[in-house]
Amino acid sequence: MDGTRSATNDIGRQYGDWPYPAVPLLANVNSTHPWQLHCDSLWDRCGRGKAPDRPRIWIAGCGTFQPYVFGTANPRAEILATDLSEPSLARAQRRCAVHRVRNVTFAPCDLEDPSTWPEGEFDLIECYGVLMNLRDPLSALAALGQRLTRDGVLRVMVYPQFSRTRVFQLQRVARLCGFHAGDRSHPSRFRAFVRSLARTSPLRYAFTTYADSRNDAGIVDAFLHAGDRGFTAWQLGSLIEAAGLEPAHWMHRPWAQPDVAAARLGLQARSQSTVLGYLDLWQELRQNFVVGLVRDDVAAAAKGPLRPHPTFAGKPASLRHALRLLRLRLFGGRVPTRTGDGDLVLRARDARALGSSLDARDVPRLLADGLVLGGEPEQPDLCPHEVIAGEDRFLRDAAALRVGRRAPNPLYGHLFAAFEADRRWPELGLPSFDDQMGTWLPWASPLEHGRIRFGLSPYATAQRHPTALRDHLGREPLPVAHGYDAVRLRDDTRRLAAARAFATAHGAPRTQLDDAAARELWTLLFSQEDLFLTLLPA
Ligand SMILES: C[S@@+](CC[C@H](N)C(=O)[O-])C[C@H]1O[C@@H](n2cnc3c(N)ncnc32)[C@H](O)[C@@H]1O
Repeated sequence: MDGTRSATNDIGRQYGDWPYPAVPLLANVNSTHPWQLHCDSLWDRCGRGKAPDRPRIWIAGCGTFQPYVFGTANPRAEILATDLSEPSLARAQRRCAVHRVRNVTFAPCDLEDPSTWPEGEFDLIECYGVLMNLRDPLSALAALGQRLTRDGVLRVMVYPQFSRTRVFQLQRVARLCGFHAGDRSHPSRFRAFVRSLARTSPLRYAFTTYADSRNDAGIVDAFLHAGDRGFTAWQLGSLIEAAGLEPAHWMHRPWAQPDVAAARLGLQARSQSTVLGYLDLWQELRQNFVVGLVRDDVAAAAKGPLRPHPTFAGKPASLRHALRLLRLRLFGGRVPTRTGDGDLVLRARDARALGSSLDARDVPRLLADGLVLGGEPEQPDLCPHEVIAGEDRFLRDAAALRVGRRAPNPLYGHLFAAFEADRRWPELGLPSFDDQMGTWLPWASPLEHGRIRFGLSPYATAQRHPTALRDHLGREPLPVAHGYDAVRLRDDTRRLAAARAFATAHGAPRTQLDDAAARELWTLLFSQEDLFLTLLPA
């Protein structure tokens, strides 16, 4: 394998030094668990009918773990796993060997360099958590789409812009303080640094509740990343459209399915991208965007006759799998879902039904759980995407520093984006702020609890500060400053000293912070008690 590309690229170097994810080599995935990643199941959910018995699958940007999971979920498939990072490929290959997954081959491939791409077409392409690392995600997405077979499915995950703001703020803290992926000690030092913050800090909360913050490679991937980004749902929608693709199924929890959320929020006349964008803006998406895409020039196929999910029916691919099925048929059991909604409890009777002839009485429930495939195609009510002018301006405004007494606290800028969207982005056609608050009731699920009284979700924050917020929304927008060097905090000198002292005391690699950096750091680390700040012109 030729490693020259990795050595010349920050992201390649990062994943070369820190293969991701850091899952122990012996961690086991039962063959009945990743059933939602079975190619037939993904084709079915995406309205493509029955997948080929021996599908060709490409995991593009596979990391260290996915090849094992996909190999386990699709024992009869021919799987190619590629990545920019050769150490990641080596780990993934070792994992497959240890767990005796033999249907995966490995090759280095840079998604930004078509000369390294594999030959041919694929029935399923998986590109999970990779597009946000690329300089030109559209070219890569369009080219991946062109490698799909006629009915093939491309599954993509990207980060949502607003829901991930806390991670991006932590990235900013790391950058200001000089933490980076090039030093082996920095992830654990960054962990200690963030854990020194007050328990009321939303950044500390975001860090400690982020599962990957428990291991160093996870800290690098999330907080010391060399260059990732979030997408608004509208940006993702236009990317998908421009790539000649269509969203066929969102692998989201039920609440974050566009049709379901549209019905609850009265947004039935809008598009999928608008509903998902609105969920993200109000931080009620509670997950990344994960979508199954299909070619937009191929109409949805009839799903065909009902059939049991291949993971639970037919001839088992191994003795172990046969024994697991036997256990399910005798005692039932839990099979995890991949949508974060908890496990699915499979009753013994249902497991038996899947293994023999389907009883009509069981079919509706098993169909709804995705354990029976086929039947009538689901027709989404909402069109995939609508372009709404003014998004760039809105995003610039939402990120701007505003100057004056009682200016929105930049730490909570993404909450203000939701509060102000109806006036700052009129093209979106949102009702008044009060009407929106009413619409969220009773759907919004506040994250705030215990020591953190506000600042985690827009809905709960607005409930805690109704008067100050209404007062703010009734005022003319404040002027904008172009950076932290153009503003002063109240008691500026003392606060800059506090930020520098914290950085020094808690092991920041960079302690010589200029005034603008110290001011920004103070705001990120210590202003959580205030929804508004006074930012004076310099
Ligand atoms: C966040 S990890 C996701 C890994 C895996 N897909 C998963 O979900 O566990 C991103 C992966 O994309 C790979 N990657 C980043 N840029 C790439 C590029 N230009 N071409 C191919 N792979 C790339 C990295 O090496 C890394 O393994």
